[in-house]
Amino acid sequence: MQNYWQNALTFEEYLKVAEERFHNNPDNNDEHQEYYELGLTRTNRTLKTYKVDGDQLANFKSKDFHGKILIISEPWCGDASATVPAVSKFFEAAGNEVKIIMGARNEGLIIMEDEMKAIADELIVCTDDGSYGRKALVTEPLKELCETWKPDLVVAIGPPVMMKFCTLTTRPFNIPTVVSLNTIMVDGTGMCGGCRVSINGKTKFVCVDGPEFDGFAVDWDNMMLRLGTFKAQEQEAHHRCHIGLHIQEGDA
Ligand code: FES
Repeated sequence: MQNYWQNALTFEEYLKVAEERFHNNPDNNDEHQEYYELGLTRTNRTLKTYKVDGDQLANFKSKDFHGKILIISEPWCGDASATVPAVSKFFEAAGNEVKIIMGARNEGLIIMEDEMKAIADELIVCTDDGSYGRKALVTEPLKELCETWKPDLVVAIGPPVMMKFCTLTTRPFNIPTVVSLNTIMVDGTGMCGGCRVSINGKTKFVCVDGPEFDGFAVDWDNMMLRLGTFKAQEQEAHHRCHIGLHIQEGDA
């Protein structure tokens, strides 16, 4: 498992592989090709526009933190595309070592198999359905890493249920865990109130007070309940929004 960490991709390598996969996808019928393109566009836009805030950086540096950062994410996720580059750039500017690991639902969403094989003594790939590699959720290797590698900070970005269980995994080890709650935002202006979450029992707006929060302080059940409020309407809108894009129900 230590080899797995030592041989993880840097953010630059990850980007190169994602570009390569999009431009030379060996699967001509890959239904996720559009997502790769969307993800890359967002990532590159964030890379171009994100500027490390001087005050935030100075504040962070004053804490004299020199640990290793573990980011758990999913390559197809639009939120991750926007967030991971910013997180990576920030910690890089602060002089920290940053490594990224990813989990996927199934074989079709794994985009770095060859590259990982080339650099790892032992390649461990997790898919939820076991269609490739180890049948496990990301929390399984996360727990093992908490026991053996002991990261100083975990950043989880992806579906709320994944982030919830990441925090349940890291809590017994007392490893600070930052989560990104932007999936609940609607207009992102502080006006609609749709992004209300409960943090340590207090109501916060994700778009105003976040979107990153201490994962241990989030009321996950409340957030997931609220996320499901307009499920029926979302499903109907999903159909209308994606007419002509050939995106199947359940893929977005
Ligand atoms: S997303 Fe509407 S208030 Fe935050």
